[in-house]
Parts: sequence; structure tokens; C-alpha cells
Amino acid sequence: TAPVVIAVDGPAAAGKGTLARRLAAELGLPYLDTGLLYRAVARRVLLSGGLPTNPQAAEAAAAALTPEDLQRPDLRGPDMDQGASQVAAQPPVRALLLDFQRNFAARNGAVMDGRDIGTVVCPDARVKLFVTASAAARAERRWLERQAKGEPIPLEEVAAEMAVRDARDAARDVAPMRPAEDALVLDTTGLDADAAYEAALQLIRARL
Ligand code: C5P
Repeated sequence: TAPVVIAVDGPAAAGKGTLARRLAAELGLPYLDTGLLYRAVARRVLLSGGLPTNPQAAEAAAAALTPEDLQRPDLRGPDMDQGASQVAAQPPVRALLLDFQRNFAARNGAVMDGRDIGTVVCPDARVKLFVTASAAARAERRWLERQAKGEPIPLEEVAAEMAVRDARDAARDVAPMRPAEDALVLDTTGLDADAAYEAALQLIRARL
């Protein structure tokens, strides 16, 4: 039988990462944060002095990606947020990252979080979750994270940055962010991490 793949897609700060990591541990499956791939491409472009919107620079960076690139501590910063979404809008970049993601899933199954796992990377995933929350709830979560890291920034600014990124991710021509037709939508507005996890686990168990 095919290995179990669980797709966890959705917009920024919906709680996908925390949720997917916990589900993977519970289900004994490998976990892949696919956003890190796009972040690592953006980091390479920026280090080489290029712009993430430059197609040549973005494609060259994606072609040069190494496993070590995914271990860098500086991938999660806000400057990488927009850069990742800018390289991710470019078809050659997405094409270069596709095999790695599919091979990862095929090896031993996986819980993978991203934007296009259920629609493009693993359309045959056993369970597809689309995890979302209101824009206000997501902005507040990201703002609290940044406060905790000692980055004072107005809530409105976090909300505006997030809106730009989500709009770009949803509007791009190739693999736009959207729920697969057979995705189960989990709205985590008003749910804490534990409640979201319990709800997700119930949805998944019913399908396994
Ligand atoms: O999930 P994360 O916020 O780390 O993703 C960073 C960016 O990478 C997203 O805004 C999106 O543009 C891109 N991405 C993508 N497809 C994925 C995962 C991430 O386009 N499967």
C-alpha cells in the first residue's frame, strides 16, 4: 500500500507548522516544512546581492540549493517572508523544487505543510487539510510571535505585510494557494494550538 501522506496547506500564520509537526510525531511520519525550501531560495538570492523578483537570480538559486541551506537559522525572519513568496511565484523555481518534495513523500510517507501540497505536490495525499483563520487572528498571532522575539512592530504593519504575501500566493498563475477540492477546511480562529491539534487529529483519524 502507498505510504500515508497528509497535506497541510493554508495561508500565513494559520498554525500549520506547529500543527503539522505535532501530527507527524503522533502518526510516526516524517515532517517536511516546504516553506523552508522557498525561504532558502530567497536567502541565496539575497546573499548573492540579487532581487527575489529577478527570474534568472531566483532560478539559479533554486538550482544551487543544498540540504544545508534548509538548516540555516535565519530563514524565518520577516525579510525572508516576502522574498520567499516572490521566488515562489516563478514557475521554474517551483519546478526545480517539485521532485525533492515528491521524493520525500514517496520514501516513507509524510506530513507536509505548504500552499500547494494537496493541489500539486501530492494530489493523491490520503488526507488534505486546509488550515485557515481570520486575517485578524493570524496577524495577531504573528505580531505576538514577533513581540516575543523582541521585535517591536505595529500590529497594522504585520497585518499589511501578511495581506500582501497571502494575496501574492493566492493570485499567482502556477500552484496558487487554494484548498484542494477534496480538502477538509479547518478554521482555527478562536482555537488555541491544543484545540486545533485535537480537531485536526479527529478529522484525520476518520479518514485513515
Ligand atoms: O509557509 P511559509 O510561510 O514558510 O512559506 C513561505 C512562502 O513560501 C509562502 O508565502 C509561499 O509563497 C511559499 N510557499 C509556496 N508553496 C509551498 C510552501 C511555501 O509557494 N508549498
